[in-house]
Amino acid sequence: MLRLWPLAVALGVGALVLVLTKNAPKETLSPLAALGRDIFNDTTLSASGQQSCATCHQSAYGHASAHGIEAGGPDMQAMGQRNVPSIRYVSTRSALSFDADGKASGGFFWDGRAASLQAQAMQPFLNPLEMANPDAASVVQKLSRSSYAARFSELNGASIWQQPARAFAAMADALAAYEKEDPDFHRFDSWFDLVMQGRARFSAAEERGWALFKDEEKGNCAACHTAEPGVDGTPPLFTDNSYDNLGVPRHPALRRPQQALDHDLGLCKNTSLPTDVPIATLCGAFKVPSLRNVAVRKFFFHNAAITDLREAISFYATRDTDPKRWYSKGPVFNDLPLKYHSNVNRSEVPYGQKPGEQPRLNEQEIDDLLAFLRTLTDADLAGSVAKRRSATAAPAVAARAGQPVANPKAANSL
Ligand code: HEC
Ligand code: HEC
Repeated sequence: MLRLWPLAVALGVGALVLVLTKNAPKETLSPLAALGRDIFNDTTLSASGQQSCATCHQSAYGHASAHGIEAGGPDMQAMGQRNVPSIRYVSTRSALSFDADGKASGGFFWDGRAASLQAQAMQPFLNPLEMANPDAASVVQKLSRSSYAARFSELNGASIWQQPARAFAAMADALAAYEKEDPDFHRFDSWFDLVMQGRARFSAAEERGWALFKDEEKGNCAACHTAEPGVDGTPPLFTDNSYDNLGVPRHPALRRPQQALDHDLGLCKNTSLPTDVPIATLCGAFKVPSLRNVAVRKFFFHNAAITDLREAISFYATRDTDPKRWYSKGPVFNDLPLKYHSNVNRSEVPYGQKPGEQPRLNEQEIDDLLAFLRTLTDADLAGSVAKRRSATAAPAVAARAGQPVANPKAANSL
């Protein structure tokens, strides 16, 4: 008996180790991306000590912000100038380029001014309205005092601390690796994805909305918010990464004191544009954002002027038929200088009608489009919407499994 106890202990310890390893969260990120995650969440890297990338790009809002326009700066009093975009589903985008017809696509930010995730990631640290550090060296100095500084040295060599520009670029590399590797940035597990995989069914309203979204005579949304899978089979991203001028109404409170013109001209102010493009025609154009997770957000368009998703859809339907609704005081397109009004897209569906004509989308159809856009929410954010859906839509697979399909764990194990 006595001689068996070491074996029993060994078995017990073994079992304990097994249980612990099974329950420990599995690290799926490379060391570089894990470092990027620490940097992304670290508020000590800002001048205020209060702001990190995650402050503005909150996971609960699809990695956009609850506030739309965020404050920042050394004392957190400087108002930002643009709506915080969702940074899910952006990592496969390439740099800004122009095709043979002069159509722009790609690039990061609303105006495409950063060519890569790395180039993008350096800007917030030094932006006086955001993390507001005076220079790269001061960011690197803050990093050297962080809890993960030793891992940064291990990955990049101890001599990195003597080369602030290299160290700053290495931080950006880590952030880009995090955004590329962490599955939360590209989950593809929305209700829409399940329906496309044949694992769930749209409700009648969602189905009608999906048809209107693609119908070239009705919503025509898919003309810019691509609804087809990519050439490599990637599910639809709901953007073609191009640019368009929507003539979005002015944000009543947003001022741009640091700019000579109190207007945000978007793409034409991108300083890296090739010289052979007609630059003035690009004034007022902004990037087509992905519509994935759009329903969890509260602010829409580059200037966050619209604060309700149904209103955003109504804007498309009635901008031209009922302009007074959107530009009550003064002229139409009131966030653009008059000389650029001809840049506003007035020819493509759903635009192009005269004031007083019937909108292409009636109130019921706007509701249907709204129901469809709500299916684009990732499972981790779907919450109570998912419960409601599983009750009403009665998806075939969920009924068989006896579980709500929109629960990511249940869905993944099907
Ligand atoms: C104060 C809020 C704020 C902070 C802090 C912030 N961002 Fe942003 N982010 C924004 C805004 C606003 C934009 C759009 C700005 C523009 O278009 O000029 C943006 C744009 C982006 C984009 C481009 C998205 C696209 O679709 O093109 C990425 C990627 C991004 N941020 C990542 C980061 C990372 C990484 C950090 C930390 C180093 C960070 N952000 C810190 C507000 C913030
Ligand atoms: C001709 C191209 C085009 C078409 C067609 C189009 N969109 Fe857009 N969409 C854009 C652009 C460009 C923006 C950003 C404009 C801006 O902020 O100034 C945008 C922004 C949006 C936003 C705000 C998203 C955010 O993150 O702020 C929503 C919602 C939206 N579109 C829904 C739709 C729906 C629904 C339809 C169809 C009824 C549609 N779009 C048709 C180009 C288009």
